[in-house]
Amino acid sequence: MRHVITVHDFPVEKIIEVLDHAEEMLPVARGEATSDLLRGKILACIFYEPSTRTRLSFETAMQRLGGGVIGFAGAEATSVVKGETLADTIRMVSGYADAVVLRHPREGAARLATEFSGVPILNAGDGAGQHPTQTLLDLFTIRKETGRLEGLTISLVGDLRYGRTVHSLAIALSKFGNTINLVSPEGLEMPSEVVSYLKGKGLLGKACHSPEEVISGTDILYATRIQKERFPDLVEYERVAGLYRVDPALLSQGPESMIVMHPLPRVNEIASEVDEMPQAKYFQQAFNGVPVRMALLSMLMGGK
Ligand code: CP
Repeated sequence: MRHVITVHDFPVEKIIEVLDHAEEMLPVARGEATSDLLRGKILACIFYEPSTRTRLSFETAMQRLGGGVIGFAGAEATSVVKGETLADTIRMVSGYADAVVLRHPREGAARLATEFSGVPILNAGDGAGQHPTQTLLDLFTIRKETGRLEGLTISLVGDLRYGRTVHSLAIALSKFGNTINLVSPEGLEMPSEVVSYLKGKGLLGKACHSPEEVISGTDILYATRIQKERFPDLVEYERVAGLYRVDPALLSQGPESMIVMHPLPRVNEIASEVDEMPQAKYFQQAFNGVPVRMALLSMLMGGK
């Protein structure tokens, strides 16, 4: 494993290896044990777009393993404002660090960065493209909460057009033969290449506009935020904002064993009353970013 750019880079065996390794990392991730596996190594986290979970969980992962962190959260205080290109920034930063975590608004930015980097690049989200480390922590959460990664029906609900986490997740889930329902407002459907990919594998369940149509047969309800920042026209955003809301009434129509996941941040898609219900797994999901990112960093830099 040289870089982490898309889920296509991960065959099933590699996914399982990462998840198993993340499982071993749990005591260190929780602070119950210590490790100096990455002592002397430096991770650069360069974020051109806002982030809470991805950046901080990468930083926590690195520090729990004894390594150091440099980087920026927002390019406003960097030489990017003087016109420095992504290519030159990557050339510089890859000389200062042993791996680079990059979040960038442009789809394909992480792939481009690999051409100018002498160290591993980890894609922390490239525009509306992919978010592969989120997908790995999603799979870790699914396996932990349901005990398996196969034979599940997952309903992806919300902004499937701009929500990059669902692009990566749909592809990864199909590798395990799961059925995927696609529920989105009109105009925010899953990109056609992902739909064709699922259809080609015979794993596309129902594509519709209402969660009520799929909830009774759903094992995992995966809600996403409407990605306001990616709308070219805010009037269009207002049309769809608030259309879907996961609340106790909706959950009462699903199986008792159904779980609710969300990559977060949420805006209004999940009612706060759901937080205390046994179905709610999204905060645990966010924590799971730490052991999964520890596993990835140690595999890329620690020779694991
Ligand atoms: N899930 C996720 O990517 O969250 P952040 O945008 O806060 O990193």
